[in-house]
Amino acid sequence: MSDNDLGLKGRTAVITGAGGGLGRAHALLFAQHGANVVVNDLGGNFDGTGKGSAMADQVVDEIKAAGGNAAANYDSVSTEEGANGIIKTAVDTFGTIDILVNNAGILRDKSFAKMTEEDWDLVQAVHVKGAYYCTKAAWPIMRENKYGRIVLTSSASGIYGNFGQTNYSTAKMGLIGFGQTLALEGEKNNIRTNIIAPVAASRMTESLMPPNVLEKLKPEFVAPLVVYLCSENIDVNGEIYEVGAGAVSRIETLRSVGCALNPDDGVSVEDIAANWEKINDMTDAKILRSIAESTQASLQHCM
Ligand SMILES: NC(=O)c1ccc[n+]([C@@H]2O[C@H](COP(=O)([O-])OP(=O)(O)OC[C@H]3O[C@@H](n4cnc5c(N)ncnc54)[C@H](O)[C@@H]3O)[C@@H](O)[C@H]2O)c1
Repeated sequence: MSDNDLGLKGRTAVITGAGGGLGRAHALLFAQHGANVVVNDLGGNFDGTGKGSAMADQVVDEIKAAGGNAAANYDSVSTEEGANGIIKTAVDTFGTIDILVNNAGILRDKSFAKMTEEDWDLVQAVHVKGAYYCTKAAWPIMRENKYGRIVLTSSASGIYGNFGQTNYSTAKMGLIGFGQTLALEGEKNNIRTNIIAPVAASRMTESLMPPNVLEKLKPEFVAPLVVYLCSENIDVNGEIYEVGAGAVSRIETLRSVGCALNPDDGVSVEDIAANWEKINDMTDAKILRSIAESTQASLQHCM
């Protein structure tokens, strides 16, 4: 596939949290394919404390040294003012925004018993509110341009749950709902939104896995999917992909055949108990693609 097919030359991409880890890999690859890149990073620690300009500057320098176009931004995604500043950097420097990769993130891992409200709120503020603010600032421009490509960064932690991450898994699952609804609302204006659940070696994960595993999990193995999802002719919208170590897979929601009781006869606890095996049997389970299909699946036996 050539750069012309990707349609990224001259497009402007904003990557949040691009001063390191996955965001840096995305930024470098977008630039390599000819996109103008805004490298946003607050430049703090992985727990959301601190800030600085060095991380974003370093990635901008790397892109420029390789002959690409990039501008740095040091705002926080977690305030409206910060997010507006990030998108303004794109507009002021490159004239518009075509691509937004919501990637910035932090961790405040603790078992639920020990989790404080601050740990909870800060994680929601960066992941959920951050994606909301940045997308909110980019959305009117994308609608006006009738062109937009958005990627949201979820996590297996949200899809499956993960011990010690009630705050993070809530935020990451929230981003799936956000992205799937944005996909529906952006469709008519050629704005495509997709979601990734990556796994990669970064400062977030380096203490969790041994070196031989981390070696297989380079962020560079995630970035190609993100760049592809933001290419011009992509006809994919509202999908979820797990990606890492060279493995890329689409994730779907399955609904068991279950039981279909007659609502006119009432539904009792005893009915649930009697049908428990059927309800949980995933034989012949179906993929559901929309809320309409879901509602229809619930009603079809009695309408
Ligand atoms: N690494 C993994 O295995 C993995 C797995 C699932 C999801 N993720 C998600 O991928 C994204 C990138 O994570 P990573 O692993 O590269 O970690 P990372 O810590 O290297 O990258 C996150 C970046 O976001 C920046 N950031 C934090 N708060 C910010 C804010 N308020 N405004 C702007 N920038 C901010 C940080 O400075 C950092 O550079 C995160 O959303 C993370 O939750 C990572």
